[in-house]
Amino acid sequence: MIVLGIETSCDETSAAVVRNGREVLSNIIASQVELHAPFGGVVPEIAARRHIECIGFIVDEALAQTNISLKDIDAFAVANGPGLAGALLVGLNYAKGLAFVNKKPLVGVHHIEGHVCANFLHGEEIDSELEPPFLSLVVSGGHTLLLAVEDYDTYRVVGSTRDDAAGEAFDKIARVLGLPYPGGPEIDRVAKSGSPIISFPRARVDGFDFSFSGLKTAVLQYIQKQNGNINIPDIAASFQKAVVDVLTERAVSACKHESFNTIALAGGVACNSALRKAMDEACAEKNLRLFKPKPVYCTDNAAMIACRGYYRLLAGFSDGLELNAFPGRMC
Ligand code: KG4
Ligand code: ZN
Repeated sequence: MIVLGIETSCDETSAAVVRNGREVLSNIIASQVELHAPFGGVVPEIAARRHIECIGFIVDEALAQTNISLKDIDAFAVANGPGLAGALLVGLNYAKGLAFVNKKPLVGVHHIEGHVCANFLHGEEIDSELEPPFLSLVVSGGHTLLLAVEDYDTYRVVGSTRDDAAGEAFDKIARVLGLPYPGGPEIDRVAKSGSPIISFPRARVDGFDFSFSGLKTAVLQYIQKQNGNINIPDIAASFQKAVVDVLTERAVSACKHESFNTIALAGGVACNSALRKAMDEACAEKNLRLFKPKPVYCTDNAAMIACRGYYRLLAGFSDGLELNAFPGRMC
């Protein structure tokens, strides 16, 4: 089954062609980072307008990079939430048009479930043999979640953030440090030349939930106390370590608690080099298998949406042309 996926939930316009859920034939991503950078964050109206300008070209390019024509696509999968309402509607309506004209099934995909499915996509060197059950740590700009993936269609929330998402905390601290948007990759880069010598708090929340607002305040207060004389790499490294320690400890404990033997990372923050290294070490020590998608599949992309759509179709789900977008933030 060949699925064409479409993703426009935030600031990336993406289309991908994926065979049998796992083999990525093309994955085209047009980033809007430069458009939003002057504002220090995504401007929803600008995002929606740029998606409208790009979507046709991006879908054409995704097909052109394969030797597959539109008539050979078996189904159209689209992320219909959560995300920015105006942005989601662009991809959703484009996918509806394609499904209607080509008389093929349409399937709506939950963006976060899509992130998890990035782990099913074949990587550069190896085929991903990941199969449920497993625990997924989803760390993106809008979400921090521990999900028990019981089978291809059952996602259960084991833990989530009480306040800021991990990526949001990275972006906010980067802004305070004067680093460009988006801040996550910048903190990752700058932290490499610093040491985690400043002791910032690790929030202890009940169960497997997270909280990053106290850490954010602690970093802000530390910076204010230094009277302009700050060591940016050391602050970045110390903040990053505080986030990574909590994510790693919670993910490993939740995995043991669920009696799973596998953890799969997902979402933009899963690109973070310190998180990938810490998870490697923690999983090796606890004898757990760890899956880390290629960085291009961690941030928003349509290949993961096509993969999730494939498994929904296999389970017998599809959607009608009345399918709506759901912008709300939770699962
Ligand atoms: O999954 P994603 O592309 O979009 C959402 O669905 O939110 O995640 C974007 C988030 C941003 O907050 C960005 O700063 C963060 O992922 N991010 C990183 C890194 N690369 C992207 N955070 C830390 N380290 C990175 N290397
Ligand atoms: Zn995302």
